[in-house]
Amino acid sequence: MSVNRKQRVAILFAMEQEARNFIDHYKFIDVSNNSALPFKYYRYDEMNTIELIVAVNGTCKTHAVDQVGTVPAAVNAFALIQQFAPDLVISAGTAGGFKKFDLRIGEVVLSKGLFWYHDRRISLPNFLEYGLGGIESFSTDLFAKNLNLRQVQISSGDSLATSKDDFSILEKTGAKVKEMEATAIAWVCRELKTPFFAVKSITDFLDVHEKVAAQFIQNLNMASENLTKVLIQLIELIKDQKFK
Ligand code: ADE
Repeated sequence: MSVNRKQRVAILFAMEQEARNFIDHYKFIDVSNNSALPFKYYRYDEMNTIELIVAVNGTCKTHAVDQVGTVPAAVNAFALIQQFAPDLVISAGTAGGFKKFDLRIGEVVLSKGLFWYHDRRISLPNFLEYGLGGIESFSTDLFAKNLNLRQVQISSGDSLATSKDDFSILEKTGAKVKEMEATAIAWVCRELKTPFFAVKSITDFLDVHEKVAAQFIQNLNMASENLTKVLIQLIELIKDQKFK
């Protein structure tokens, strides 16, 4: 990399609503091409400082909903890196968290340590560890310190609900937050040697009686607004960093 090349940072969202305020803030330009998959890409180029790419997983052609989950996340991460070769990828979105660890609804957290899966149970020698993921996050220490954000281990799976087995794996790995994309993206980024971390805003508690879906719907707007505020501050810090 030449010394003066601007950093290109890609921020990957699963849901349109999670991304919308951020896209509007920077007046991103839609650079989606007519690919076979309905992923969306937006670009913002700030002279001499940073180039931002927003990737969104798009709408399911069959069910007309946002393409949440690990499969679209991984395929989009791969397509994104192939097309734009970012210096850093960030998974941004919402997540469920444990009340017992004093997380708050609307709190924005950064990834630390390892990314896990809580719904890949493969009880065969060595496959057990493979199933759990354990993929390293880029260090967010500097950002956490500057923005006064908590850092947590994050676990991904393909359900909004949390089963008994999921709970026991979350306890085993120590993940305090659960969502549906980050570990899949972390895997792609590890394979393609691209630095990666996650920023997640808490929409719901996993360990209360109130239904997760109801909490999620009620808090999605507020959590997405908080996410946008933190992302804007984060981008200011990232402008001064070199990742590759
Ligand atoms: N995204 C937001 N809340 C979630 C939860 N409880 N589980 C999975 N993904 C989520």
